Amino acid sequence: MNSERLKLIAKKISPNDMVLDVGCDHGYLDIFLKKNKLCKMVWASDISSSALNYAKENFKKYHVKIETFVSDGFNNIPENVKFNTAVIAGMGTHTILNILNHPLSPNKLIIASNNDYYLLRKKLNEMGYKIVSEDVILEHEHYYVILLCIKGTQTLSEQELLYGISNNDDYYRFQIAEREKIMAKVPKLKKEQLEKECLELKGLIERK
Ligand SMILES: C[S@@+](CC[C@H](N)C(=O)[O-])C[C@H]1O[C@@H](n2cnc3c(N)ncnc32)[C@H](O)[C@@H]1O
Repeated sequence: MNSERLKLIAKKISPNDMVLDVGCDHGYLDIFLKKNKLCKMVWASDISSSALNYAKENFKKYHVKIETFVSDGFNNIPENVKFNTAVIAGMGTHTILNILNHPLSPNKLIIASNNDYYLLRKKLNEMGYKIVSEDVILEHEHYYVILLCIKGTQTLSEQELLYGISNNDDYYRFQIAEREKIMAKVPKLKKEQLEKECLELKGLIERK
């Protein structure tokens, strides 16, 4: 597997985890987990049957036996699938939050959203999840954030909700650059807000 992002997700899995990969698509993560015996059990699901067929072909190609099923998030989970960990990666925050708003949402989550990490962190806390760690990885010139969460109480500060808890200077610099890119194109009030955020991010880098 040549995706550093998926490898980082795999690092968050423990040997006793019973993993459901929600939105598996190609299934590469599941193949990696299975081949390297990184968890007790792994199931692969996707809302799209054609995506799931792609995963099934890959499972055949790489000679791994992994049970698959079509499912919108935690709906339609077969009886035998007793997962305690879910990977939800490569989707937008709104889709991820819709998936998590379900009684079967498990104790441990590994999440990689494509957007709006502020809302994601805020809602995770509100839904009774604690963000244990955040790791960032640069892939295809974009930083991806991998959140490890477990059920628990946590109240992150506004700064932590906005910039995350990765403590990674390169990621903070990336966030500054992203804000600077759009600053010239936004109304005055928004520009002032972005300038304030850039100063706060610089403060996070300098305080070390
Ligand atoms: C961009 S792919 C990400 C694949 C893989 N998880 C990764 O991170 O590389 C997103 C996948 O999520 C699936 N998906 C979107 N909404 C979903 C939902 N509500 N339940 C299950 N799968 C979903 C899509 O069909 C697609 O295959």
